[in-house]
Amino acid sequence: MRFSQIANACLAACTLTSAAVVPAEIEKRATSTTSRVADAACTNGPTSRACWKNGYSIATDFDQKFPTTGKTVSQSLTLTNGTCNPDGNGQRLCLLVNGVYPGPTIRAAWGDTLSVTVTNNMQDNGTSIHWHGVRQFNSPGSDGVNGITECPLAPGQTKTYTFKVTQFGTSWYHAHYSSQYGDGVIGPIVFDGPAAANYDEDLGPYVLSDWYYRTAYQINSIASINLAAGGPPPNADNILINGTNKNKNGGGSYNQVKITSGKKYRLRLINMSVDNYIRVSLDNHALQVMTSDFIPVKPFYVNTLLIGIGQRYDVVINANQTAGNYWFRANVATDCLSGNNFYGRAVWSYSSVTAGTPTSTAYTDGQGCIEPAQAAPYWVQPVPSGSFQQSISALDVGLTKAQIVPNGDAIIVWAINTSSINLMWDRPTLKYLMEGNTSYPTAYNVVPTVNAGSWNYVVVQMLPQTPPVPHPFHLHGHDFFLLGQGSGTFDAGSASLNWATPPRRDTATVPGGGWLFIAFNSNNPGTWLMHCHIAWHVSEGLGMQFLESPSQIQLPDQGQFQSQCKGWEDYYSTAYWKKDDSGI
Ligand code: C2O
Repeated sequence: MRFSQIANACLAACTLTSAAVVPAEIEKRATSTTSRVADAACTNGPTSRACWKNGYSIATDFDQKFPTTGKTVSQSLTLTNGTCNPDGNGQRLCLLVNGVYPGPTIRAAWGDTLSVTVTNNMQDNGTSIHWHGVRQFNSPGSDGVNGITECPLAPGQTKTYTFKVTQFGTSWYHAHYSSQYGDGVIGPIVFDGPAAANYDEDLGPYVLSDWYYRTAYQINSIASINLAAGGPPPNADNILINGTNKNKNGGGSYNQVKITSGKKYRLRLINMSVDNYIRVSLDNHALQVMTSDFIPVKPFYVNTLLIGIGQRYDVVINANQTAGNYWFRANVATDCLSGNNFYGRAVWSYSSVTAGTPTSTAYTDGQGCIEPAQAAPYWVQPVPSGSFQQSISALDVGLTKAQIVPNGDAIIVWAINTSSINLMWDRPTLKYLMEGNTSYPTAYNVVPTVNAGSWNYVVVQMLPQTPPVPHPFHLHGHDFFLLGQGSGTFDAGSASLNWATPPRRDTATVPGGGWLFIAFNSNNPGTWLMHCHIAWHVSEGLGMQFLESPSQIQLPDQGQFQSQCKGWEDYYSTAYWKKDDSGI
């Protein structure tokens, strides 16, 4: 049966229930050699979330094919210095987006064009805004990484980031200027599209973030001093849920959610922390997971869910328990060596009862600092294993000494293949490309990818004698295939690797003292940062960039690019704060 017939049959006969999502044939992925498309009559609704419209569905792999709606969604984000007091502990300095923390949700539909105008009205802070997980197909200049894809945006200046929404699901935006995002420059992204499980209502983004009573810049420098002494960074003071929580002395207020018996709710979980893995659960209610990062998965149920920094999971929650009040819990994952002084809580109440303090009991299962083993890919795509040993990039993660501070001192930093990334804000990689200059500084950690259409195989290996902390590795410009993870030293002969049905996502964990093995296809010309998403670690140099098909790269408008750089140089020559880390 062809896909269109299946889709028609399904419209007529099968209700797409959450347990049996879609017929097996629909789950097969569209590949470059086959193009399975949904029937145009397939209409998205509460019992047919796998459908979308105009020939697109959950079966469409968006790397291969995506709609064009012709619509441009415009949004303005203005960044300011301000104060905030999210948990009642007291006011502190925050960097706000449109006056709020976390920033407003950016919402568009699959196939739209987004045009986001960012105005930097902060004092003493340059910025660049990254749209985490967004592929930036043909728009690498909108990736928002100062020192790679643009010069920082100086205070008082405005930049418009324009890119096509080729994906669907949940993500976030954040500043990529040192550890700035920890002070507030974050917000959710929702791209409407089909979904792998059915639900009645979308509760929208659920932002999880660690929170410190000192600023991120302060904690970052303490973390750097501690690293040199072999110690961990400071604990977070709290965990916030959609920007609120009580504090450990009782002030502040919980996030509150109302649900109605008999309904199914989609919740978009996003870990926007700077340093903490977070494990979530809702008492008495299993979570039906249907995406990991932007990628649909075959729906599965868990009681507790570990979310690495930068990762997202969309889950469905069935309001089928005794009407009452239940705790939503967001605890730092101590098995990932995350640490905090208090925990995240929210109150979920059935609409038929009076909202009050829950007395519900926590699930106790869930251990191990690794992505959930149940996450089977929805789009099954094998990765060729034939010649991978010839085209493997071995990226060894360890500590080294390097000069990244302005006074010329060498300090202990994180490094990949002994090189700690250190970018010059006013010499972004794309500027080198514009000038036809291929003499990238060593500290830019530029690694060329293989030719267009071929597979890149990457082993990220923690060296022995480095602190055994897990690192959530994130790749820009691509989803990658997760071929394996393990402890100790990677050995292609003995490692258990999944070539046939590897999960796909944009952020995955290098286990402490272990390895992560991923692959991605060279299908997106650009220069793509890969880094540990622990803000302190990338600030301390734990990153590199893949330079992909340089002659094919669609460079941004040079006039605008250069005038932003000029604006930055003018500002920076007299700026009070100078760069004292990797820059990202
Ligand atoms: Cu959330 Cu470099 O990215």
